[in-house]
Parts: sequence; C-alpha cells; structure tokens
Amino acid sequence: MSTTQPVNNAAPWGSQFTEHMVTARYEPEHGWGDLVVVDYEPLQLDPSTSVLHYGQAIFEGLKAYQQPDGSVSVFRPEQNAQRFARSAERLAMAELPEDLFLDSLRLLVNKDRNRVPTQPGESLYLRPLEIATDTMLLTRPSLSYLYVLMASPVADYFQHGVHPVRVWLSTEYARAMPGGTGSAKCAGNYAAAMLAQKKGAEYGCDQVVWLDSVEHRYVEEMGGMNLFFVFSGNRLVTPKLTGTLLPGVTRNSILTLGADLGLEVEERLISTDEWEQSVKDGSLLEVFACGTAAVITPVGEVVHQNGSFTIGDGGSGTLTMQLRETLLGIQQGTIPDTHGWMHRIA
Ligand SMILES: Cc1ncc(COP(=O)(O)O)c(C=O)c1O
Repeated sequence: MSTTQPVNNAAPWGSQFTEHMVTARYEPEHGWGDLVVVDYEPLQLDPSTSVLHYGQAIFEGLKAYQQPDGSVSVFRPEQNAQRFARSAERLAMAELPEDLFLDSLRLLVNKDRNRVPTQPGESLYLRPLEIATDTMLLTRPSLSYLYVLMASPVADYFQHGVHPVRVWLSTEYARAMPGGTGSAKCAGNYAAAMLAQKKGAEYGCDQVVWLDSVEHRYVEEMGGMNLFFVFSGNRLVTPKLTGTLLPGVTRNSILTLGADLGLEVEERLISTDEWEQSVKDGSLLEVFACGTAAVITPVGEVVHQNGSFTIGDGGSGTLTMQLRETLLGIQQGTIPDTHGWMHRIA
C-alpha cells in the first residue's frame, strides 16, 4: 500500500479532494444502477438539467477516521443514510437504499485509503450528493437522478485551537418555515441562508443563529450546526425538532453523551428572551454548537438588533470542552465506543 498523503493544511477546509469518486444513476425503468468508482472529474450536464433550474439536490456530510489499530471507521453512517433517504422523500427524489449508501462509502474509502489522514483531529470528510438529471424545462419531479460520493481529506476545523464564535440573531431573514424543507439536507436551504450569513459577517459575526419564521422568537439552529444550552443544575437543553431544523447526528449523539454524564437533558423551545435573561441572571452557563464538520464549537457572544451579550466570560465552557473531547475520543478510537457508533469500513 502506498504511504498516506498528508493533509494540505494551508488549503481552505473542504477544498481538496481525493483521486476518485463513486457514482450511481437512477432511471425510472431500472431503479438504481450499480455503484461505479471513477476518477474524480467534472460532471458534464446539459444546460437544461433539472437540478440547475428547480433545485432538486440533496447531500450529506460524515467523516471517516483512522483508528489506532490502523483500520478506518465512520461515525454513525446509517444515520446519514436514513437522513439522505428522508431528504430525498421530502424533495420527491429517488431514495437511495441504505445498503447502497454504505457500500459507496466502503468503496471510496478503500480505493483512496492512502488519503485518510492520520493526525489527531484530521479525517476524511465524505460528501454524498444526489441531483435531478432530467433534461427538460417542465416543472415536475425529475424521473432520473445521479448519486455522487466525493471525499475531502480535512484538517482539524480548529487547527489553531478551539475559539468561541460570535453569532448574529437573524430576525430579518428566515431559513425555514412550517411545512417547508428545514429538516431536509437540501441545497436550497443553504442558498436561502447565504444572505443572512453575509449580513452577519457585516456585524462582525462568524455565524447566523436562525429563529422560528413565525414569531422570530424561538432559537432553531446556527448556520450548519445545532445548538445546546448548559444551565446551572446540570441541565443540558437543545431546541426541539419542530420540523424546521435539521436533526443533526451530532445533536443526537450529544443528547446520549449528556445523559451518560448524568446531566438532565431536555429538548424544548428556547426563546431569545430566555437566552438573554438567563445569561443576565447567571443561570445559563455555556452555549455551544455542534455538527459533523467542527464537532463542537463554543458560542462566546451574541449580537442582535438591539445590542449584544456575552456568555460566561466569553471563553470555551468546561462542559462544552468535556463533551468535545469525549466525542472526538470516540471518533478517533481513543475512548471506548460503548454505543456502537463507529462502523469499520477499511
Ligand atoms: C443546517 C444544519 N444543521 C445542523 C447540522 C449538523 O448536523 P450533523 O450533526 O448531522 O452534521 C448541519 C450539518 O450537517 C446543518 O447543515
């Protein structure tokens, strides 16, 4: 086997790809065809391809980690496979069966095995994508689809140490509404979020926090991450899944890890008033965001249209960092995987 290629730390996160990709085509008369490993290369699409006009596009994100014994494992891939199928259903797209999804990961990681990074915090980020490929301008669900799996060797999101983010509460723009696509991982949700992200940056913020689109009061999620609130009395609270936020795999795992640590975990509505008030009265101790890419990110400061407030001393909370170390330890094989979350694929 050839030696492992080091990650290019100077390249922006997710901008480097391995030499191969896996594809499969769905045609209405045959269903899903075989998975094929091909060279990583540009896709050729007719300008009338349905996805370019009507946006039937879904994706996933998960990571493969080199383990201490030299094998490679993926974190809870069946969760991503199931979410991918749910996203497909919501967008009236062909659902990729779970076994094909898992086989595609196995094929690509074994083919590009020498691109799985070996340093702590590094991983091979896997990006499954499905797009509508009918070539015609009639507005209706496409009949044919293309599945593509690509892989990107990535460094630790926080190469230079974990640093808390400053977030902007978006009351002007909404990401998702009841009955919409908020709980699906579809391209349109991200397109809808770009302007607020840009505005947030103008206020000196790293990320946007989305609120419910009806009352603009209840916290939903942050950019590409879910949120957690640590209250005094060992209470860990996360916004409940109302249908407008993405059910994160990391979120689900932290609910379990929190319970393991003896915390009282709760999924409920949390308003921006409660957020600010409980920071002021000292009962809210820490806030963090979580997702596959950055794992756990502390939230230090909140900016809104009437001012701003700082959580604790604005630094990284103790429980935040404990949960981060635990989750990363399980993923990297240095802490026992008592829930059977790691799935060996190479
Ligand atoms: C909008 C959004 N919310 C939350 C998450 C976190 O989900 P996960 O933990 O499955 O990565 C992501 C990332 O996938 C996301 O894009």
